[in-house]
Amino acid sequence: MSDTMKNALNWIDDRFPLTKVWNEHLAKYYAPKNFNWMYYFGSLAMLVLVNQIITGIFLTIHYKPDALLAFDSVEYIMRDVDWGWLIRYMHSTGASAFFIVVYLHMFRGLIYGSFRKPRELVWTFGMIIYVCLMAEAFMGYLLPWGQMSYWGAQVIVSLFGAIPYVGEDLALWLRGDYVISDATLNRFFAFHVIAIPLVLVILVFMHIVALHAVGSNNPDGIEIKKLKGADGIPLDGIPFHPYYSVKDLVGVGVFLFIFALIIFYMPEMGGYFLEHANFVPADPLKTPEHIAPVWYFTPFYAVLRAVPDKFLGVVAMAGAIVVLFLLPWLDKGINKSIRYRGPLFKKAIIAFVISFVMLGYFGMQPVTPVGTFFSRLFTLVYFAFFLLMPYYTRLDRDKELPVPERVTD
Ligand code: HEM
Repeated sequence: MSDTMKNALNWIDDRFPLTKVWNEHLAKYYAPKNFNWMYYFGSLAMLVLVNQIITGIFLTIHYKPDALLAFDSVEYIMRDVDWGWLIRYMHSTGASAFFIVVYLHMFRGLIYGSFRKPRELVWTFGMIIYVCLMAEAFMGYLLPWGQMSYWGAQVIVSLFGAIPYVGEDLALWLRGDYVISDATLNRFFAFHVIAIPLVLVILVFMHIVALHAVGSNNPDGIEIKKLKGADGIPLDGIPFHPYYSVKDLVGVGVFLFIFALIIFYMPEMGGYFLEHANFVPADPLKTPEHIAPVWYFTPFYAVLRAVPDKFLGVVAMAGAIVVLFLLPWLDKGINKSIRYRGPLFKKAIIAFVISFVMLGYFGMQPVTPVGTFFSRLFTLVYFAFFLLMPYYTRLDRDKELPVPERVTD
């Protein structure tokens, strides 16, 4: 570093802890040396968040949050604004990419026990991020003011009406009208472009601060801080920068390649990322034949439809999200990583994944007796995974494998 650069850095350091923060969170943040590809999804989630914010800003420049103009302004972006189609597809495909990345990120946490002590708050902040992300995506989907935007919002907001005593008033208050209308569009716009993104950015910051306070977990579930060298550095740790900053770039490269392929060749993913009905302007007088949310909501939508009573359905749907928050306190196993867990836990994870994917599938389909039967079955499996966890993880304890002293390759 040249003397001028050093002086400039010293000047800043005397007034702002730049070097201290750089060292604490990057150059001297010791991460376990055995991270595998499943550890790419945290940095990828940050990348997608930045993509959504930047493309969102450009969309806002041309979009009109007005029930009479919204649909046409999106068409204008797609057809007339220079590169508008690219910005819009980067944003709409980005929303699905966000959920793919976050679901894989959560799954990684689930199988390696990253939600367990001492990372309960990392998980809790993550779960609050997830709930905010769902609210963000839901409100964003109303903005193009297509048929599915309109009727999807109508169905979901009316669910609040099922809450006893206060429900109808609550739904009215949320919509700002008796039906989804211009008033709803305006408030969803405000929440979608500023309120929730702001909260998301703050939460991601807290998520990382909480993680760096306790240190990262790893595919072996070994606490590397327990084994330090004479210099106080974990024996199995390597500095995040440059080792993982460079390694994460590989993940970024692969992700951007797949992301670009989708954006250029199948941006609507055959109706899964942008539903066909949303290319028709919203018509409050004409209900589409089949109303289904976008794929990332369908597991929870299937739970809702699986329960015959509307209010209990809403309770079950909310419960399906709430149980995820409780995970750190439900798991009574000894080891963290699936590599050293007992057979019951492994089987339970497989059953959970199957139930989540199948619920996602049935949530997309129109209601049929067979679909309802399987939705109920998989709803039971889903809840059993969580609610029986204290029992089967205890039963599994004596079948857990010994965890090695040091991390493995
Ligand atoms: C905007 C969304 C999110 C962003 C930007 C984000 C970012 C990150 C980053 C950068 C890391 C460190 C690198 C890594 O371990 O992959 C991390 C770790 C972690 N995140 Fe997230 N995250 C998000 C959402 C979530 C959600 C929804 C959950 C779960 C409910 C979650 C749970 C965790 C856990 C448990 C860890 C620690 C993993 C370990 O040490 O093994 N995160 N996150």
